[in-house]
Amino acid sequence: MSKRRFGLIGHPLGHSLSPLLHSRIMQAVGIDGTYEPIDIAPQALPARLPALLRTLDGLNVTLPHKQAVIPFLTDVDEAARRLGAVNTVCAGKGYNTDALGFALCRVPMQNRRVLVLGAGGVARVLVPGALAAGAKSVDIYARDVQKAHLLARQVGDSRVTALSDAPQPGYEVVLNGTPVGMYPDNGSLPVAQAVIDGARAVYDTIYNPTATRMVLRAKSAGIRAQGGLRMLYEQALAAQKLWNPQVDFAAARPALDNILPGLAREVLRQSPVKLLLTGYMGSGKTRIAQRLSHTMGEDLPMADLDERIVLRAGCAIPRIFERHGEQYFRRLERDELMRLLQAPGPMVIATGGGTLVQPGAARAVHEAGGLIVLLEAKLDTVLSRICPGAGDRPMINGGEQAARTLFEQRAPLYREAADLIVDANGGVRSVVNQILRAFEWEAQG
Ligand code: S3P
Repeated sequence: MSKRRFGLIGHPLGHSLSPLLHSRIMQAVGIDGTYEPIDIAPQALPARLPALLRTLDGLNVTLPHKQAVIPFLTDVDEAARRLGAVNTVCAGKGYNTDALGFALCRVPMQNRRVLVLGAGGVARVLVPGALAAGAKSVDIYARDVQKAHLLARQVGDSRVTALSDAPQPGYEVVLNGTPVGMYPDNGSLPVAQAVIDGARAVYDTIYNPTATRMVLRAKSAGIRAQGGLRMLYEQALAAQKLWNPQVDFAAARPALDNILPGLAREVLRQSPVKLLLTGYMGSGKTRIAQRLSHTMGEDLPMADLDERIVLRAGCAIPRIFERHGEQYFRRLERDELMRLLQAPGPMVIATGGGTLVQPGAARAVHEAGGLIVLLEAKLDTVLSRICPGAGDRPMINGGEQAARTLFEQRAPLYREAADLIVDANGGVRSVVNQILRAFEWEAQG
């Protein structure tokens, strides 16, 4: 068979993951083909689409064309017609594989109260998806209340309601279809924390970062939570299956299963998030940062904030405290922190035990697109690793009692700042694995 040609139309296309994703799928199943991003402005669609429909073997469609392509197609399948949106074209017929992609994520919604955040393109997939999965009720909340009401009316199911006011806790499932939390807006939550805390399952269609603040906070609270990468993968795979019905996808399962972890790393390369490790003295921030960076290879270099401060000051931390006092140290610390946050590329940063409990520090991290991981260890654990009163850590020069008091003061502040909370009482490997799992990264090689 001659080389197959596929393409994605949208505007703007920016850093779409689709070309890479499709080429990985084609490679895994042995299809000789290309997949090109084709940027088409809305007004150019009528002039350009017919030729693409004639010459390409298959087409994906993304914003803003999902609805606009419909009049150019010879047929539209039932599901896409109901959604009023086409994301895949095969032999002139329109389909919607987003809906299937979401269904394959298997968010447990049977008989549950579901909250959908947003009323745009993705929410149009989530609402019917929740109904199809047996939701007891689906409430839609969007900043644009009129849009939420319009979507509820269009779906026309008695279980669906549009909210006029911000949602209150009480939902068993929360689905995010807004862009809130997407890189570089990593520090934002699309809904109040209390609504997330009360849920039993949380799903975010955002895949960049692979785990948003909402997903991380939910995971930290022991709630089942998933980011949008799987949905992206499943809709692409479903499109390839439509375009290549003769190919045995089941036989390529092992190779296909390797694609998602690789993709998670690609997301990190494209959107270089900074991961800040925080936690009390002795929680293992430096060692965990080293091991995490080692495990991720060049995708995640490491920096140690205390080390930077020492280099900058030209003397050890106890000397800085002795000569200039804590306030001076905090200024240096804040300064070096901001430098690291502004440096290009992804990074895991071991902060000092006091860095992110300073007023405004966590907010500055979030505003700079960083995510905060709290290594949470018990007082006994940290006391077994540090030596209060030994003089190497000026904040606890006062000995064990001083270490206890500071620990108790800071414990709630760490929690407030954190996006992801991991249990740091165990060994290095177990802590690193918790972080890797949360972001769907896998060890290299
Ligand atoms: C401090 C912790 C230290 C160091 C400085 C102040 C603190 O870092 O930044 O002594 O306020 O907790 P480690 O947590 O790495 O020991």
